[in-house]
Amino acid sequence: MECSWKTVLLLVCASLGIQYTAIRSLTATISSHCHGTETGTHCHSHQQGPSSCSEMSQPHREPRSDDQVRDRKHILIFATTRSGSSFLGQLFNQHPGIFYLFEPLYHVQQVFVNSSRMRKLMDRRALLGAHRDLLSNLYDCDLNFLENYMKPMPRDHETAMFFRRGASNALCTPPVCRLNRDSKVMMEHLCAKRCRFLNLTLASLACQARSHVAIKTVRIPEIKDLRLLTEDPRLNLKIIHLVRDPRGILASRMGTFTDHFRSWKIWNATGRKPGGVDLSQISTTCKDLSNSAQTGSSKPAWLKGKYMLVRYEELAKDPFKKTAEIYHFLGLDVDSQVKKWILQNTRGTSSPAGNHKYTTTRNSSATAESWRLNLSFQIVQTVQCLCNETLFQLGYRLADSVTDLRNVSNSLVESRTFLPFL
Ligand SMILES: *[C@@H]1O[C@H](CO)[C@@H](O)[C@H](O)[C@H]1NC(C)=O
Ligand SMILES: *[C@@H]1O[C@H](CO)[C@@H](O)[C@H](O)[C@H]1NC(C)=O
Ligand SMILES: *[C@@H]1O[C@H](CO)[C@@H](O)[C@H](O)[C@H]1NC(C)=O
Ligand SMILES: *[C@@H]1O[C@H](CO)[C@@H](O)[C@H](O)[C@H]1NC(C)=O
Ligand SMILES: *[C@@H]1O[C@H](CO)[C@@H](O)[C@H](O)[C@H]1NC(C)=O
Ligand SMILES: *[C@@H]1O[C@H](CO)[C@@H](O)[C@H](O)[C@H]1NC(C)=O
Ligand SMILES: *[C@@H]1O[C@H](CO)[C@@H](O)[C@H](O)[C@H]1NC(C)=O
Repeated sequence: MECSWKTVLLLVCASLGIQYTAIRSLTATISSHCHGTETGTHCHSHQQGPSSCSEMSQPHREPRSDDQVRDRKHILIFATTRSGSSFLGQLFNQHPGIFYLFEPLYHVQQVFVNSSRMRKLMDRRALLGAHRDLLSNLYDCDLNFLENYMKPMPRDHETAMFFRRGASNALCTPPVCRLNRDSKVMMEHLCAKRCRFLNLTLASLACQARSHVAIKTVRIPEIKDLRLLTEDPRLNLKIIHLVRDPRGILASRMGTFTDHFRSWKIWNATGRKPGGVDLSQISTTCKDLSNSAQTGSSKPAWLKGKYMLVRYEELAKDPFKKTAEIYHFLGLDVDSQVKKWILQNTRGTSSPAGNHKYTTTRNSSATAESWRLNLSFQIVQTVQCLCNETLFQLGYRLADSVTDLRNVSNSLVESRTFLPFL
């Protein structure tokens, strides 16, 4: 932790308590000019890219045997908020050989939330350093490392504060949870309630008992920020880069974080853009998507064998096919539990189990493009203008009229093959 605790503590992440790519929007300088959004022409957006934390050193770890090093995969679901990452995460969570964690980097950000006086000084590199440090320890099954970031500090390695524990099967079943999850579902919120305190030492042992580790995060801005982890000889990192049409991301965020998107909703409902609409968040999302996809497609040596781009829309459209491709890339078999979960959760009617914001139970092929019925054309044009290059790069067609937008039988997802970098 050279990069370092002291520095990190002095600095502040103004996490909004929700999962925006908050890190990025605070430090990046954005200037976007979007002229003529009504016609969707002439727009540019520029953003200054930050540098990486190259002086970060890796924490000490006991070496494992060669076999373990060779076979054990460290899977990272690299995504952005509301891009379908909960859904993709489930494809790993359901696999009995995989230890899955949902957004553990939340804990790093949480530490900085309330010391907001020094917000302006927040250093992105330092935060990234802490994120990488935590990932690296979690891939090594050291869940006790999380205690550094937990408030209140766990006693006897037990905590009730583990973020979204219920999203992780391994933490809700024996031996970590003494209760047996009788049927497929113990609803997520019931896990934390019924299983009581989480013993992090026990969780670490459960992690070691599984063959692979998968972690989902929306808190790292760009693929290039992962370079040090890909180059760590102790890790066998496999990055699944999940992308989604930014117009769909925006619609989903508006439906989920209603307070934060109040002015957007007014704009959507009235057709008049209020003063408070913040365009920088969506343009930052697009820039990050674009830069990361660019890094991936330029095939740098450090990503060889470690990178696969997945478009959410394709996953939603044919989850069995895409899941098979992802597992093939990882060199793992699709477990029958995974298939079962897909069957139960993508062919359902529109009655999700409970009203949870992050539920993944839905008719996925119907929802991937349903944002087209949910956003005003003006907003769509604005995003198309801000994100033109990103849309183009990822194979999403622009809607050129309101009729075109609403006609969902005419997909805006172009067929395009993104091969894994082998
Ligand atoms: C969007 O990008 C494409 C490809 O880069 C370009 O051909 C087109 O003119 C751009 N459109 C707008 C509205 O900027
Ligand atoms: C941050 O402060 C607010 C009130 O000021 C409090 O309700 C919240 O629990 C605090 N969060 C953390 C993580 O300490
Ligand atoms: C947590 O689990 C470890 C390993 O099984 C055990 O030794 C320890 O006593 C447990 N801690 C508590 C407080 O129960
Ligand atoms: C559409 O908008 C409503 C109202 O804001 C929201 O509840 C819903 O989640 C949105 N649906 C989609 C598919 O974005
Ligand atoms: C799911 O949505 C697709 C596309 O709209 C539709 O064809 C299919 O009938 C739906 N399935 C269910 C079970 O509702
Ligand atoms: C946008 O407005 C339309 C039409 O008024 C409405 O149906 C939809 O739910 C709104 N979308 C959001 C995300 O609020
Ligand atoms: C929607 O698009 C389809 C395919 O391009 C076309 O055949 C159909 O006429 C369109 N529907 C409307 C209402 O424009």
